[in-house]
Amino acid sequence: MQDLLELAISTAEVAAVMLVDKRPADLGVAYTKSSSTDVVTEMDKASERLIVDRIRAARPGDAFLGEEGGETGGSSGVRWIIDPIDGTVNYLYDLPDWAVSIAAEVDGEVVVGVVAAPARGELYTAARGRGSHLVRADGSTRRLRCNTGVSLDQALVATGFGYAAERRARQAETLRQVLPRVRDIRRGGSAAVDLCSVAAGRVDAYYEQGPHLWDFAAGGLIVQEAGGSVGGLNGRPPSVDLTMAAAPDLFGPLHDLLDEAGAAN
Ligand code: IPD
Repeated sequence: MQDLLELAISTAEVAAVMLVDKRPADLGVAYTKSSSTDVVTEMDKASERLIVDRIRAARPGDAFLGEEGGETGGSSGVRWIIDPIDGTVNYLYDLPDWAVSIAAEVDGEVVVGVVAAPARGELYTAARGRGSHLVRADGSTRRLRCNTGVSLDQALVATGFGYAAERRARQAETLRQVLPRVRDIRRGGSAAVDLCSVAAGRVDAYYEQGPHLWDFAAGGLIVQEAGGSVGGLNGRPPSVDLTMAAAPDLFGPLHDLLDEAGAAN
């Protein structure tokens, strides 16, 4: 597992440096909306290519699932789940909450998760059974723990919204029911970073209708290894229908609120 973790860390760091270095300084200002989106798509693709090439050079038998490249089979039992830029709109606008997210699965179980958020100067890592950690740009490292003992009405809850109008309308309806029942809502713009914020105790919980496996595979393990629970409704695993994360004592009340709010409909 250590070799997978080291490869995930070094690869996420190389991709993050490339994305910072190659991001045109005036991206948000100088381009029209459609062409700036194209530039970001190009950066997304370049990042995923770099990640896959680097991992494949070290481990030619592994499989991949990437936001841009889809599924590629392998023979080793290891699959890499990659979001080459999570928080693309933040990247476009030069807001700091975007990340490179890399997870490694062995025989279908995520065992390693790495989220590099270079504009925050932060690297989040987790290996199954070995805890999760935040490494800052100055090299200092701290072990992560989710907040516990927080009641639902005192919970600071991160969420996110998809791109499709129909999905957003449903998300708004859920949010209408959640907002009066919690301390407040945060919309950071990167599901991977939101999950790391749960692990770091910067928010108490996260939920979203619509995130993909590449958005939450690495961050989900980082939450679990920080003592948190990650899942969907009624004992289901986290999925595109609904992904929730919180300390175990908050997860139940959040689950029931989202169930009542019809979040998975
Ligand atoms: C998006 C971000 C956002 C979440 C969306 C995702 P992308 O990922 O994680 O926070 O609300 O559901 O699609 O598109 O920037 O990789």
